[in-house]
Amino acid sequence: MSILIRNGRIVTASEDYVADIYIEGETVHSIGKNLPMQADQIIDAGGMVVMPGGIDPHVHLQMPFMGTWSSDSYETGTLAALHGGTTMVIDFVLQTQGKSLYHALEAWRGRSDGNCYGDYSFHIAVTDYNNDTRQEIGSLVENEGITSFKTFMAYKGALMIDDGQMVDLMQEVKRHGGMVTVHATNGDMIDKLIAKHRAEGKLSPLYHYLSQPEVTEAEASGRFADMAHYTGVQGYIVHMTCQGALDAVRRATFRNQKVYAETCIQYLVLDASLYEKDPEGAKWVMSPPLRQKKDQEALWAGIDQGLVQLVATDHCPFTWEQKMMGKDDFSKIPNGHPAIEHRMELLWSEGVAKGRISANKYVELSSANAARIFGMYPKKGCIAPGSDADIVIFDPNERHTLSAKTHHMNVDYSAYEGHEVQGKCKTVILRGKVAVDEGKVLIEKGYGQYVKRKAMK
Ligand code: URP
Ligand code: ZN
Ligand code: ZN
Repeated sequence: MSILIRNGRIVTASEDYVADIYIEGETVHSIGKNLPMQADQIIDAGGMVVMPGGIDPHVHLQMPFMGTWSSDSYETGTLAALHGGTTMVIDFVLQTQGKSLYHALEAWRGRSDGNCYGDYSFHIAVTDYNNDTRQEIGSLVENEGITSFKTFMAYKGALMIDDGQMVDLMQEVKRHGGMVTVHATNGDMIDKLIAKHRAEGKLSPLYHYLSQPEVTEAEASGRFADMAHYTGVQGYIVHMTCQGALDAVRRATFRNQKVYAETCIQYLVLDASLYEKDPEGAKWVMSPPLRQKKDQEALWAGIDQGLVQLVATDHCPFTWEQKMMGKDDFSKIPNGHPAIEHRMELLWSEGVAKGRISANKYVELSSANAARIFGMYPKKGCIAPGSDADIVIFDPNERHTLSAKTHHMNVDYSAYEGHEVQGKCKTVILRGKVAVDEGKVLIEKGYGQYVKRKAMK
């Protein structure tokens, strides 16, 4: 099978030019002006932006969490992602405390393998670090291609590890050339504030927000950066939301340390005023919570300054019925919101169309940096001969409105209902096959492949 994409504006992290792309099999074969090749399929991309398929490095599909399961399966989640131009996701395996990492990996692969439309990989969340867990790290890196180890500084009793475990884990991961990533919020402080609000009868979604003030994230981000500095491991902070946390990353640069930072599209686009709606505010109950306008400005500035390298989603959807598990108590609302389908279009609309970032920066944030940081470049994250032909053909001018009536995620509301965006994914190619064209799905479930990643040593 071969495809010739003619006359598109090819945008990668470093280039922006008009040319043709010839795809043979699963990879890009050649790029040039007026390529002479014949192909099975010819796509006229005049006037379109042609860019690497999006990589969302932070999603939770079919995940057991807070007494329920996130509502998108690997099938529905990766298909919704493809509709929105994301050709690959990195999901999280969660260790059950008392059990092994491999035990969790088998359970997650049991749900994902053979069910994905898009390509996928895993981070593994270490929730119980001990001598047995230590023995598994090397094999996960070398044999499974899992090179990033997620930690939680919150959710005590289920996911959180203490600082001693964190330092031990960092030392072991460093030995194998891997990376430690973190949900950086101070779990003890948050639990105290949740208990206080509940005791005072303050139970609406607003108190979810008020139980996780900025200081809880700023403090934990700084502590994580310090431990990463002490151990020398590569550190990465997931879903960064606020100025205080960003300042912790900035301070790390003063001692020549690099701590990677990921924000999520919702923290750039939505703000905490949504929590004043009761009970509707439950739709945006996530951790960390949405913040203030000043934090959005800080994050855009952090992107511009190169302190924030990725924009993910932390896609963790729950239906309204699931959200209403917490109708009388904010602490029982399952945390997370749906966004996997909208990240690429929202980021273009809010970033490039509004003049905040260049098209090259957009590709860095949405694809190339995830591939580089998580050990998949240049197979993923770029358009070059030999790379996987994961390509989005994007109309930068088409306007449309996001709605639960039209989205493909398995959730009965939209966190972005009525939000108008500029820019639309028209055709999405995954490893040389047109996967989605004008909303029509042209591949089968199971086409998505597990991607092993390389260590960074
Ligand atoms: O609210 C969130 N973020 N839910 C998913 C789990 C996590 O903390 O990333
Ligand atoms: Zn988290
Ligand atoms: Zn998450």
